[in-house]
Amino acid sequence: MTGHKQPYYITTPIYYVNDKPHIGHAYTTLACDVLARFKRLDGFDVMFLTGTDEHGQKVDASAAAKGIDPQLFTDQVSQNFRDLAVHMNYSNDDFIRTTEERHKNACQALWKTLVEKGEIYLGSYDGWYSVRDEAFYGEKELIEKDGQKLAPTGAPVEWVSEPSYFFKLSEWGDRLLKFYDDNPDFIAPQSRRNEVLSFVKGGMHDLSVSRTSFKWGVPVPGNEDHVMYVWVDALTNYLTAVGYPDVDPDKLAKYWPADLHMVGKDIARFHAVYWPALLMAAGIAPPKRVFAHGWWTNEGQKISKSTGNVIDPYDLTAKYGLDQTRYFLLREVPFGNDGDFSHRSMVNRMNSELANDLGNMCQRVLSMIHKNCNAMMPNPGAFIDADQVILSKAYGMLDVVRPLFDTQAFNKGIEAIWELVGDANRYVDEMAPWGLKKTDPARMETVLYVLAEVIRHVGIMVQPLMPQSAAKILDQLVLPENQRGFEHLGPDHTLTAGTEIPKPEGVFPRYVETEDDGEKA
Ligand code: MSP
Repeated sequence: MTGHKQPYYITTPIYYVNDKPHIGHAYTTLACDVLARFKRLDGFDVMFLTGTDEHGQKVDASAAAKGIDPQLFTDQVSQNFRDLAVHMNYSNDDFIRTTEERHKNACQALWKTLVEKGEIYLGSYDGWYSVRDEAFYGEKELIEKDGQKLAPTGAPVEWVSEPSYFFKLSEWGDRLLKFYDDNPDFIAPQSRRNEVLSFVKGGMHDLSVSRTSFKWGVPVPGNEDHVMYVWVDALTNYLTAVGYPDVDPDKLAKYWPADLHMVGKDIARFHAVYWPALLMAAGIAPPKRVFAHGWWTNEGQKISKSTGNVIDPYDLTAKYGLDQTRYFLLREVPFGNDGDFSHRSMVNRMNSELANDLGNMCQRVLSMIHKNCNAMMPNPGAFIDADQVILSKAYGMLDVVRPLFDTQAFNKGIEAIWELVGDANRYVDEMAPWGLKKTDPARMETVLYVLAEVIRHVGIMVQPLMPQSAAKILDQLVLPENQRGFEHLGPDHTLTAGTEIPKPEGVFPRYVETEDDGEKA
């Protein structure tokens, strides 16, 4: 099957442009970026989408508060998200904005299909709405605080009473339950699956899918008093970007259904309930999987604009480094759980796992090759058992990591790679190649060669996570760019003895505490 790579379509949520990007936004897209890069290296034809969610009452209100026209406002804020993607070295293939013409067309096409299929009707909505959550809530879902009604998320709610189109969600409960049953991996992790199942089993009302009290949205075809509910508009972005309805039928057929919608836990319901129901109702296949990750806190505190402890991704990368930040965010927390960002654990990981474990190992081995082997890749002799053990672990690494990344267990995949790094450090200490130069130079070459092979594997495997640092490591091995894909892992593409290597330079600097850090820690 040459020339026919398997497609892989992965998406981030599209971000509300009411605010500047923070760590939460950076995190979701990072996880997607790492997976997208991993899949490309693993031979897939990847489509990685991110973008901005620009309609709705929340964005409209933010623009009004600034006294700017919403289009101008969204142009500005959307650009911040594009800039962040470049800054964080994300490899997205497209960046969608819901204010684009292609998207308006896709939304209206989906709407018309739902109308034709008898899935949408005109009624009126009398109930609670939270602008902050852009969500409708039933009376029973609300909580009370200081005599005030709030959404279960703690967001303020307002009473809405207006004409509205409805989607017949209430009729989709059984079909959704069957769908979850037939596709046990559709929503992960398990805790989110349980939540979604109990929500659907609890019985669902029809979903209000249009608003009349403001104009900032996609007009409902045939009734321009209404704009579409922002979530119907937003979810449709995943179809728009692959050419729905008829812009690019080949692209649509190739990439739809999406392989993975990555989302935060707060928006699991929209992706795992409303979205598959809308799609099935329109006769379109639902996505294959929705993974809902957890939320970050800052030094134990909930992140919020009002407390002013929002973590700015630009600050993190300036302080700790880009790849260090990327590493930390995916290594620190079992993906799916909530996690806490603390300076202490960031520095610990950065210094012990990156600077010491991986950085020093590379630096030691490459310096010895540079100094003791005439700056040339050594020529191995026969391997002893200890060599075979570590080599086969390196050669088998992809088979261990792939299923972990495929199930979004990033921290476990990274841990597995670092187990190999740990083995390599123990192997260097045991083999003590520095002592072999005089006693057994041939054996020294073999040991250094084995270690260089391990570094080649680790370097290739960490490319998705730390693209710049991995490139530096692989450059120091003088591994040609076209030999860095996963198909080059294993014993069939070993390093070429005799290749001249440059004088190695450290890849992972240690973090040195400042006085300011001391006060905080
Ligand atoms: N616009 C909707 C998504 C529409 S997708 C069709 C939206 N946007 S958002 O900008 O509010 O949030 C985007 C993502 O950021 C969500 O997945 C959310 O979970 C994530 N995060 C926001 N704060 C976060 C943390 N503190 N920690 C981790 N992720 C967080 O929702």
